[in-house]
Amino acid sequence: DAVIKKQRPPPLVLSRPKDLIQEACQRLVLSDQQLRRIMQSMEKSMEQGLATSTKKVAVKMLPTYVDSVPNGTESGDFLALDLGGTNFRVLHIKLQGKETKMTGKIFRVPESIMRGTGEALFDHIAGCMAKFMGENDLKDAQKLPLGFTFSFPCEQEGLTKGKLVTWTKGFKASGVEGVDVVTLLHEACHRRKDIDIDVVALLNDTVGTLMACAFQENSCQIGVIVGTGTNACYMERLDRIPKLAGYVDEHGVTPEEMIINTEWGAFGDDGALDFLRTEWDEVVDRESINPGQHLYEKMISGMYMGECARVVLEDLAKQGLLFGGNSDAISVPHCFPTKFVSEIDSDLLEDDDRTFQKTYQILEDIGVEMITANDCANVAYVCSLISTRAAHLTAAGIAMLLNRMNKKHVTVGVDGSVYRFHPTYPTLLDAKIGELIVGDIEYKLMLSEDGSGRGAALVAAVATRLKEEKLA
Ligand code: GLC
Repeated sequence: DAVIKKQRPPPLVLSRPKDLIQEACQRLVLSDQQLRRIMQSMEKSMEQGLATSTKKVAVKMLPTYVDSVPNGTESGDFLALDLGGTNFRVLHIKLQGKETKMTGKIFRVPESIMRGTGEALFDHIAGCMAKFMGENDLKDAQKLPLGFTFSFPCEQEGLTKGKLVTWTKGFKASGVEGVDVVTLLHEACHRRKDIDIDVVALLNDTVGTLMACAFQENSCQIGVIVGTGTNACYMERLDRIPKLAGYVDEHGVTPEEMIINTEWGAFGDDGALDFLRTEWDEVVDRESINPGQHLYEKMISGMYMGECARVVLEDLAKQGLLFGGNSDAISVPHCFPTKFVSEIDSDLLEDDDRTFQKTYQILEDIGVEMITANDCANVAYVCSLISTRAAHLTAAGIAMLLNRMNKKHVTVGVDGSVYRFHPTYPTLLDAKIGELIVGDIEYKLMLSEDGSGRGAALVAAVATRLKEEKLA
């Protein structure tokens, strides 16, 4: 395509607006002292979650009933379902030594289905499965062990049963909260009559991420997602999980450890983050589909980061500090997705001359009428503050877990669109974790390859092995 270079107004010589902007945005910059306060209070919230399963605790700390990581010998044929964002995937996975062969299909989950009835949602899922199996001549595959990655908080009673605690990330299908999602899936399959399934494991995407990473690097003990939402799971000692006191597994054994799905996205829902939430965060929360819920997630993840930047920019424009005081274009909710934050941050990184080409283009596409070079620089500045804050908040969470686990070498498996596609987020995250950990801990962040798919097959493999051992 022809690139049309637009004539841009010369940079304003005024440096005053930038100073005012810096002043207005001060609250987005978190000091190490504030981050340490977050770590402390997050650990306190987690301990509350480990102690009781009442609805009242903010951070739910959900037992996953996964108590060992793969040992690398897992093999066989599996099905995996992955529901957790705007897409739904069906996968057929063959594990063979360190190799994985995967075929799969991605289906969109339309907003009308995300927010319709639970029955329609699960009918859609079953319909997609039937289609995939039909197209790939997999009718016999119905009997294959299936791992269901369901990336929402689930109160599990075992590996194959879990009640949805609450929807997150824009989902709102009725009649699912408080109900076992594996039962809902079975019922949907029975309604269709043409497929049957054998669900051997229900898991969160963080658990899949941890397992997929542990398959390669056996020191992996933490799984983190920074995508549409954010969450972490980690290996916790059973003697530190009071709410599981007396638990024995199907062999009558009390395992030493279990993976806990923290659901840290809800950290702050009891007010623990109020000391640093800004009026902009309040706007983002108020206008979301689940106000008052998942407040930490709303300061970090891809579903909200762009909107948060937009709300700040709108406010600055209204104060007359941006776009000549015209806030019309930037006032349209959700006109500034997180993808824009990534693109604008890469302008800061790659563009030595500070011409802010991408930034200018984005603002023009949104419909901002008067864009000066200073505006571009200021917009980029705001975006970098928002993404840096997100990375530092996540770093506080990971560093807290590393300090708590206090193990010598820990690999942290990480996945999600923000971690994958934001140009500086991984580096900012890593550097800040390094500053926040204490003692003699070595850690490594590792991009986990498709935890929701491969991880699901691995959990299914481990579960099948246990089932066979039990029958033998
Ligand atoms: C949301 C969900 C959580 C999931 C995370 C990342 O926070 O509640 O279960 O792991 O998003 O997808």
